[in-house]
Amino acid sequence: MTKKLRTSRRHIRVVRTVPALRRAIEKLRVRGARIALVPTMGALHEGHLSLVRLAKRRADRVVVSIFVNPTQFAPNEDFRSYPRTFAADLKALAGENVDLVWAPSAETMYPEGFATKIVPEGAALAGLEDAFRPHFFAGVATVVAKLLIQCAPDIAIFGEKDFQQLKVITQLARDLNLDSRIVGAPIIREPDGLAGSSRNAYLTPEERKVAPTLFRVLTECADLIAIGRPLCATLESGRGAIATAGFDLDYLEARHAETLAPIRSPKDGPIRLLVAARLGRTRLIDNIAV
Ligand code: PAJ
Repeated sequence: MTKKLRTSRRHIRVVRTVPALRRAIEKLRVRGARIALVPTMGALHEGHLSLVRLAKRRADRVVVSIFVNPTQFAPNEDFRSYPRTFAADLKALAGENVDLVWAPSAETMYPEGFATKIVPEGAALAGLEDAFRPHFFAGVATVVAKLLIQCAPDIAIFGEKDFQQLKVITQLARDLNLDSRIVGAPIIREPDGLAGSSRNAYLTPEERKVAPTLFRVLTECADLIAIGRPLCATLESGRGAIATAGFDLDYLEARHAETLAPIRSPKDGPIRLLVAARLGRTRLIDNIAV
């Protein structure tokens, strides 16, 4: 009897120019195959790989883009030090049998004379990430629009980890009549609750021990709100717990889970709690449904 072994490819196709990408996508499309795109900035972890696995289940072919997008970082942010682990990323993606990696250079994405910017409104002005990273969503919207146009996937997968980003991109695809369905994927966490993030690599061992506080506080607040405790007081004590643990809090907010509008009571609609806080030089974000 022959045993069927799960095999993974040792080599993975990487393209770096738009014409090579177009040719490769055309080949992937033969006989009407459905294509999924998973956009990333590399430094891949289990959260990213969960998106790849979801893409595999939802489509016939999977393209992963790896591009550390300079336009979504402000000058004082971590573009230069952002972790870059390309060889390890390719190995991980080969292990998932990804069909194609789109890894353009900054010059390919933003050639000399590039002069177009997509500036999203709506969820991009919710007063969450946008209040602390004013450059961020124009950079994300511009690069994601380019990636969706370049790859023309049937679906594109984004994590709920970046909840506001997922809303902005869903609206972008709708507003620009892009022919790709945007699919959200659940947050993957470490065993102690810390949400997976490429930026977790910045944490010192001491900070790493404190970091799961964010998820613990989110969970406690969500449980209290679900049993009818007042929203404002619950969030206020959550903010206190985060500060006491040693974070500099940017926000801990309850928002309408669809529109991200401020919400006063669970009667006003489904609630999402969203948090962003800095621990040493690392900025962490997380969110949870109530
Ligand atoms: P990056 O931070 O690399 O994340 C790529 C995708 O992985 C995003 O959709 C993000 O929400 C998702 N992701 C990250 N951590 C996750 C986790 N723990 N569980 C589930 N999904 C997770 O987000 C970006 O890159 C960029 O802004 C990008 C969309 C690629 C545009 O440059």
